[in-house]
Amino acid sequence: MSVTVRVPAKVNVQLAVGAARPDGFHDLANVFLAVGLYDEVTVTPADELRITCEGSDAEQVPLDRTNLAARAAVALAARRGIEPAVHIHIAKDIPVAGGMAGGSADGAGALLACNTLWQAGASRAELLAICAELGSDVPFSLVGGAALGTGRGEQLRTLEVGGTFHWVFAMADRGLSTPAVFREFDRLGEGLDIPEPIASEKLLGALAKGDPDALAAAVSNDLQPAALSLFPELADTLAAGRTAGALAALVSGSGPTTAFLARDPESAAKVAETLRSSGTCRTVRTASGPAPGATVLNG
Ligand code: C5P
Repeated sequence: MSVTVRVPAKVNVQLAVGAARPDGFHDLANVFLAVGLYDEVTVTPADELRITCEGSDAEQVPLDRTNLAARAAVALAARRGIEPAVHIHIAKDIPVAGGMAGGSADGAGALLACNTLWQAGASRAELLAICAELGSDVPFSLVGGAALGTGRGEQLRTLEVGGTFHWVFAMADRGLSTPAVFREFDRLGEGLDIPEPIASEKLLGALAKGDPDALAAAVSNDLQPAALSLFPELADTLAAGRTAGALAALVSGSGPTTAFLARDPESAAKVAETLRSSGTCRTVRTASGPAPGATVLNG
């Protein structure tokens, strides 16, 4: 018997970042929107923990116990006093090291899949607590939809969304390390007074109304200057998408994936086509949000 869970990618429509805390993390006001690009995580009983991965970026995925999917299985098994004896297979469609929470998605997916396979009976609250231990973005991958993350991003408040938003994502030809981007944020901010991160009321209102123009006017990412500093060519990708008619262009999370908001599916297709022929990115995908969180497909 196997259990398969589907988990969405995310884009941060607002990422407000505070000063570094004593523990090295940063307080955030992080507005997540789940979008319809998915990884599928399948768990099957096995003699011992083993991970395999398929997909165009599969060779970049670690197949040892550092993988968040493995860590999720180990964490749940430890709480139940059992062995994490599963084969975890990841069918990967979310870009790796792209700022779209692909690793977090696999962690949330493996956790939900193992909870189902082992009939471990973890409540939603326990699953969310394990997710928060695994990483700042992992709870959102479980929940999906749209949410405001505070603390280091793991304390979630679900947000109302009044419509569907259409996005284009441009994947770069190399990844960016999230810790490196936060370090660059700290370096660029040295000596400056960094304000407390606060969610934008305009942005929350635009989400609630489902208004793409209002959302475009309100999106922001405090990590964008740091990502551009480490990966200057991303400025060309952003410019190409803006020229193609995107309502807004921004780096997704810590990057290097760039995200373009479009008014409707037709406009998204046009922006995607222009980006594809621009020579400024590796691949281009369209996806809309909000999308549901981690979902058991069978089992
Ligand atoms: O929580 P997670 O393990 O996903 O975070 C990865 C890295 O990103 C952390 O080690 C830290 O360097 C940085 N980070 C941060 N502040 C946050 C979230 C992540 O500095 N709120």
